[in-house]
Amino acid sequence: GGEVYKYYADGEWRASGSGKSVPIVNPTTRKTQYRVQACTQEEVNKVMEAAKVAQKAWARTPLWKRAELLHKAAAILKEHKAPIAECLVKEIAKPAKDAISEVVRSGDLISYTAEEGVRILGEGKLLVSDSFPGNERNKYCLSSKIPLGVVLAIPPFNYPVNLAVSKIGPALIAGNSLVLKPPTQGAVAALHMVHCFHLAGFPKGLISCVTGKGSEIGDFLTMHPGVNCISFTGGDTGIAISKKAGMVPLQMELGGKDACIVLEDADLDLVAANIVKGGFSYSGQRCTAVKVVLIMESIADAVVEKVNAKLAKLKVGPPEDDSDITPVVTESSANFIEGLVMDAKEKGATFCQEYRREGNLIWPLLLDHVRPDMRIAWEEPFGPVLPVIRINSVEEGIHHCNASNFGLQGCVFTRDINKAILISDAMETGTVQINSAPARGPDHFPFQGLKDSGIGSQGITNSINMMTKVKSTVINLP
Ligand code: G3H
Repeated sequence: GGEVYKYYADGEWRASGSGKSVPIVNPTTRKTQYRVQACTQEEVNKVMEAAKVAQKAWARTPLWKRAELLHKAAAILKEHKAPIAECLVKEIAKPAKDAISEVVRSGDLISYTAEEGVRILGEGKLLVSDSFPGNERNKYCLSSKIPLGVVLAIPPFNYPVNLAVSKIGPALIAGNSLVLKPPTQGAVAALHMVHCFHLAGFPKGLISCVTGKGSEIGDFLTMHPGVNCISFTGGDTGIAISKKAGMVPLQMELGGKDACIVLEDADLDLVAANIVKGGFSYSGQRCTAVKVVLIMESIADAVVEKVNAKLAKLKVGPPEDDSDITPVVTESSANFIEGLVMDAKEKGATFCQEYRREGNLIWPLLLDHVRPDMRIAWEEPFGPVLPVIRINSVEEGIHHCNASNFGLQGCVFTRDINKAILISDAMETGTVQINSAPARGPDHFPFQGLKDSGIGSQGITNSINMMTKVKSTVINLP
């Protein structure tokens, strides 16, 4: 299109002085669908200044009022679910039904955040001095949580709305201001979501949304002296950000190579259903997708057969038709996936389906008999391609899982709860799901990655706490 969507600063929609725009290519049509402003560094500076000023007043706004505004934004967001979901369909090829769920889930997340914030931020602590040796009972320490200041939120393309509000909600309820840099693909959905906060009536400058090229404003934002906290979800860029960022708290959720360990006594129908859901929903473009299946040799044939039967039933096509498998986000992503598939082919993996690709659309593919010398045994395809590694012992499975540089989630299927717990303890991941595919939600559960999968813990409660600092006042009695 011709229209360039405006960015949001100081409570207004603005065109960038750069006169430039960034195209958003529809993954399905591979044509430019929308354009957003290419903001300049000077515009970022202005946004940061406004955010700093707005935060001071916001921190003094009563907690119940902050919560009230968030509830309002949540309701407006839900009212706008259809047009926002349409953006998700056009910008990131999210299946229509999933796009609606993302927006509804986001409204629920904001409301829950408001309620949780009122509860946990409304409480402080009182300590008395005489529990520490040498002290009389003459000091009373009152501690409570105060905001950090300006929070920078950088969500990824796969949940441009939900992973934005999972940062915005906690930041705002805790009394911070927020600067959002949406992913290019998903930026228009994010701008529309920000509009809902605008309509709810948040003070000017408290929330802003800058769009543009990473090369121009990416490092500039993350290294900006006005930023007091960074919450980032995405890929390797997060590692670079963490090296360059200043002395500010970081919340990072990066990649994953979530393993699915299947034991001999597992319910094989349950396993197959979860492999398909975990590995192929949103075409595998989830950090928590099942990215490697580690299965005991004796049941491998049976599970592979069940999975193949289910894959044959998936609907492959455009997101508008509510297909299960839709085009991956960019051509370069499709090329990367294809590279992993070709590497596996050369090294002798068994193709359970024929490899098929049209443009960015890749048909679901299960690769059996994958071995550790294949790239796909370790790398994240972020596409509808799933490797199966046959194992002869549980230890072998745990070893593969722990040899990964990632450690987001993992799952284990068995009817033996004792074994499941022991395996969970042994897996070096932030979460282990017993008898279900990995998933971040429900959104109040803690969510964290070990190793290269991230820093800190998310989930509503943890994010609110992470975006605050403890402040103490000590009353000294004579
Ligand atoms: O892509 C990363 C997301 O945090 C995964 O969220 O488990 O709800 O799909 P999900």
